[in-house]
Amino acid sequence: MYIKRIDLKNFRNYKETDIELGEGVNVFYGRNAQGKTNIIESVYMASTGKSHRTQKDMELIRWNSEDAKITIDYKKEEEERIEIYLSKRLKKQIRKNGVRISKIGDLIGNLNAVIFSPDHMKIIKEGPVERRRFIDIILSQVKPGYYYNLVQYLRTLEQRNNLLNEAGINTGILKTIDIWNEQLADFGAKIIRARQEFICKICCMAADTHKRISNEKEKLDIKYNSSIKYHNNSEKEIRESFIKVLENYIKIDLKRGITHKGPHRDDILFFINGAEVKTYSSQGQQRTTLLSLKISELKYMKEETGELPVLLLDDVFSELDKERQKYLIEFIKDMQTIITCTNVEYFERLINEEVKVFKVEEGIIEKE
Ligand SMILES: Nc1ncnc2c1ncn2[C@@H]1O[C@H](COP(=O)(O)OP(=O)(O)OP(=O)(O)O)[C@@H](O)[C@H]1O
Ligand SMILES: [Mg+2]
Repeated sequence: MYIKRIDLKNFRNYKETDIELGEGVNVFYGRNAQGKTNIIESVYMASTGKSHRTQKDMELIRWNSEDAKITIDYKKEEEERIEIYLSKRLKKQIRKNGVRISKIGDLIGNLNAVIFSPDHMKIIKEGPVERRRFIDIILSQVKPGYYYNLVQYLRTLEQRNNLLNEAGINTGILKTIDIWNEQLADFGAKIIRARQEFICKICCMAADTHKRISNEKEKLDIKYNSSIKYHNNSEKEIRESFIKVLENYIKIDLKRGITHKGPHRDDILFFINGAEVKTYSSQGQQRTTLLSLKISELKYMKEETGELPVLLLDDVFSELDKERQKYLIEFIKDMQTIITCTNVEYFERLINEEVKVFKVEEGIIEKE
């Protein structure tokens, strides 16, 4: 899969820009705050319907403008077009090949992208929210139905939590909790099962990459740490176990008015040679873990969809040492990559392949 053209109107600091990308490596370089990441953001929008750095679509509209538009032409089996229209007055409009898409779930999975920036160290270093986000974005792209289940799960969770809160005043409504437990377990079991399966697959791939980058010295292990216990990863078993847990925890749930167990509380754990990465690993080991994880994310997507996604590398290379740069470059040779950096000469030395270079200056892009 590759993007042929990006057309932006009043998006961030771009008044009007229309660029044609190459099928291989595309480098956008320029000083800080010129609009490099904004390009990556526009592609990410077309992939997921959302920005990777803000929840507020209004921030994406160029200052003093009423609306913005992103148009991306890409080639999968056929030529496709995604259009996103943002307005200060109207609802966001998304179109695929001219036809209106009303649900984000129907957009995700069309233009698949993997994004990698230094900010992603959060996945390794910070709390479980980032890790769940990581997993949910990938699975939403490759597994039909995953995003739908997730949305339904979160909706049911909210309703169950509302009920827990109201039960303080009106104990009678607790009679209906079983219905919510059943529904939560229905969607929740599907989510846990998909995540568990994903982690098993990605664990092998990441361990393989990590072993090579660390000169065979380190064994990376990734585990899905669920708040629901199960032995074999069957939906039925997870569902039953989930219902039992909900029943056992009802007193605690009622006390705080929230649901304490379920995939919204689950986590992913990383270990190097048996020690947890977040707590015991050096900065370098953490970076290698992230790189291994990102490379396996690409491999996984290729395996599941039969196509390599578009890779978005925002300011990544300057943070990696030579050995790790070499690994990443080895990888990007076969796929379309959009890279942002401040120093292009350095890049041209690094990559032997043909590279399409764009200079970015105050929201204006010039092809070199
Ligand atoms: N809605 C907007 N309207 C106009 N300009 C905006 C808007 N949002 C952001 N900008 C401008 O876009 C620029 C930032 O763009 P971007 O984040 O792409 O920079 P960058 O080139 O990636 O920089 P760095 O190298 O520091 O990462 C800033 O100058 C900012 O003021
Ligand atoms: Mg940037």
